[in-house]
Amino acid sequence: MIGVFDSGLGGLTVVKELLERIPQFKILYFGDTARTPYGTKSAETVTRYAIENTNFLLEKGAKIIVVACHTVSSTAIPELKKHFKGIPFFEVVTPSFKKALRLTKNKKIGLIGTRTTVESGIYQRLFMEADLQIKLYTNPAPLLVPLIEEGWLKKPETRSIVKKYLIPLKLRGIDTLILACTHYPILKNIIAEKAGKRVKLVDPSEEVAEEVANYIASNTDLKKHLEPDGEPEIWVSDLTPNFENIAQMFLRRKVKLNKLLW
Ligand code: DGL
Repeated sequence: MIGVFDSGLGGLTVVKELLERIPQFKILYFGDTARTPYGTKSAETVTRYAIENTNFLLEKGAKIIVVACHTVSSTAIPELKKHFKGIPFFEVVTPSFKKALRLTKNKKIGLIGTRTTVESGIYQRLFMEADLQIKLYTNPAPLLVPLIEEGWLKKPETRSIVKKYLIPLKLRGIDTLILACTHYPILKNIIAEKAGKRVKLVDPSEEVAEEVANYIASNTDLKKHLEPDGEPEIWVSDLTPNFENIAQMFLRRKVKLNKLLW
């Protein structure tokens, strides 16, 4: 099984991309809906939650772990790798960084994400190591997660908030924008429109899914352990009547959620 986890249901954007590329392998998803959001919490707390989430997936039989959450990917990966030696981890930061590096022509890159992701400084470090001429401009965009979860995808308020978040980045002349949060691919059309034609978007859900698919394709040994099966098994740490609607919005198909008993 491919284990995927996120702070909540937004990580289903990654599951959707995995299903498009490797539908033959069973996916086990855990959304920590009881403790979401992570994007406002400290790196220490996020790391503790990430270890618990990984434990859950491994105990249920996951053979590789995909960290769909940008906040976890920005703060907890070294600890996770130390804690779970030998387990292949995939995260959303590295493939997004690599894609942005390939896309940019003018070396001005923008990024929106949660506060914890932006404050982690991980992208600054990666770009600095790769190319000192790259300028990274970041803006936390914390209002987008609740707007998306409320289903306000086409409201004028959402459009104007997206525009507000992008103005400072556009003023810097960025030609590439990283959507550094599980939820933002859902607003890709509006973000593309407000960012303008010159700006190319990096969608982490596509980048990580591509990386996982390539890894599995070249790893015949692992393939044997990934159990063929279409339907993803989705677990949450809390369940309300609205969660299935939200999950359906991210996955674009009907979803049954299983509640974990702590
Ligand atoms: N999953 C989080 C991320 O990608 C967004 C939601 C949250 O703050 O927990 O950063």
